[in-house]
Amino acid sequence: MSTLYIKTELKENKQENKPGYFGEFGGMFVPPVLEPKLLKLSEVFEELKTDSTFIKEFNYYLNQYVGRPSPLYFAQRLSSEVGSRIYLKREDLNHTGAHKINNTIGQILIAKRMGTKEIIAETGAGQHGVATATAAALMGIKCKIFMGKKDAERQQLNAYRIKLLGSEFITTDQGTATLKDAVDAALGYYIENSNAFYILGSAVGPHPYPSMVRFFQSIIGSEARKQIIEQEGRLPDSIFACVGGGSNAIGLYSGFLEDKKVRIYSAEGGGEGLIPGRTASTLVMGKPMVFQGTYSYCVADKQGNPIDTYSIAAGLDYPGVGPEHAFLKESKRAEYHSVTDAEAIEAFKKLSALEGIIPAIESSHAVALAMKLLKNKNELSIVNLSGRGDKDVDRKLI
Ligand SMILES: Cc1ncc(COP(=O)(O)O)c(C=O)c1O
Repeated sequence: MSTLYIKTELKENKQENKPGYFGEFGGMFVPPVLEPKLLKLSEVFEELKTDSTFIKEFNYYLNQYVGRPSPLYFAQRLSSEVGSRIYLKREDLNHTGAHKINNTIGQILIAKRMGTKEIIAETGAGQHGVATATAAALMGIKCKIFMGKKDAERQQLNAYRIKLLGSEFITTDQGTATLKDAVDAALGYYIENSNAFYILGSAVGPHPYPSMVRFFQSIIGSEARKQIIEQEGRLPDSIFACVGGGSNAIGLYSGFLEDKKVRIYSAEGGGEGLIPGRTASTLVMGKPMVFQGTYSYCVADKQGNPIDTYSIAAGLDYPGVGPEHAFLKESKRAEYHSVTDAEAIEAFKKLSALEGIIPAIESSHAVALAMKLLKNKNELSIVNLSGRGDKDVDRKLI
């Protein structure tokens, strides 16, 4: 499917305060065939998010299956090295090794309530693919995972896990054969197969996905807020997360957005630097436009066509970003920084050697930004460790 297919005029975007909008960003820009499906999904989600039986079931799986709450760990040796007080929110310790499972459990429970017989999902780093294949196995629902060929090659461990978990594994060699192309392939299948349920892996795409993914990931922020108060008796001075589509970040931020004194720092995949085609820094380099069903930022050429992105981290290698992040940037509530491959690799090695924790290369971007901005600041901070690095150890990063 071409991304042009879901483009609409910018003037239709000015719908502030409507459901599915974050300021002027967000919305549902999809072909007519998808509209009724998404409206139905939105209706069911609105009902279920306040349904105590549903929430109880969601919490049951988070506690008993995922292993929540994840610890908030004081990284003592990293803190000494940086000259600040750094806590790590250990999403890497979740079952399947990343934050993605919080969202897939939530969405598959909705799918089950809607009587779904087939699940589909896209994946970049493979973590969302693994989490979806896991949830599908758990619930006994048939599942197809779409992945770009380049990503399947650089994340072989996860490609193998997806197949082992019993899902059908479909690669695409369209475009750059990365996350954007996997989303296109999954959306194409979704359009043609009206009974499939699309478990989208980040806070991107058309309404209700950005709100729904935020809701399921907000467990990260609510736990972290409670844990830091218990352990330190106060809120942090700053919080950090990496941003691909933006789901682990919005999950953490949601616990602190109202606390205006807590500064929010986001690390985008800077790749080789701010060079068009060699970076995935959407909010640093991009501009507002409609892309893959939502009005948000996207890296694009002068004609407004999305351009190829590059980052060493498959999970950050995406030209778009969730609409709430576009809003947080424009309203200046959060800062967005570009972190290069080299900086992320350095942090990957540092955290491994200093703390005995091997971070995902995506999460290493957040660690790198914290190491840079917190140097000798003696602040109290939380870094979201969105995933573990097993998938990255055979990539010769050292
Ligand atoms: C470990 C990890 N962190 C972060 C991300 C980026 O996604 P998001 O921005 O939605 O959290 C990914 C995506 O695959 C991931 O696997």
